[in-house]
Amino acid sequence: MGRTYRVTFVRSGVTVEVDEEERVLVAGLRAGVALASSCRQGMCKTCMVPVEGIIDQSQAYIISDQELAAGYALICVGRPRSDLRVDA
Ligand code: FES
Repeated sequence: MGRTYRVTFVRSGVTVEVDEEERVLVAGLRAGVALASSCRQGMCKTCMVPVEGIIDQSQAYIISDQELAAGYALICVGRPRSDLRVDA
């Protein structure tokens, strides 16, 4: 168990504590947030949503620099590196 961060799913009104090694998608699903996903390997963009804060995207293989610059993230492979606000 490493460091944890507070992740808020803004539209759903749900906030959860997420370990730095846990994927944001998995944490949200566990808390009952309805989140779209498909491959869960950073390869399809089904889970792509705007995220405020620092989220590890080192395994987000298919996201473009423009999408990253616009604040989007693939939450299926996204691990928190700060408290986050997820637009979902
Ligand atoms: S579910 Fe496919 S990239 Fe996240």
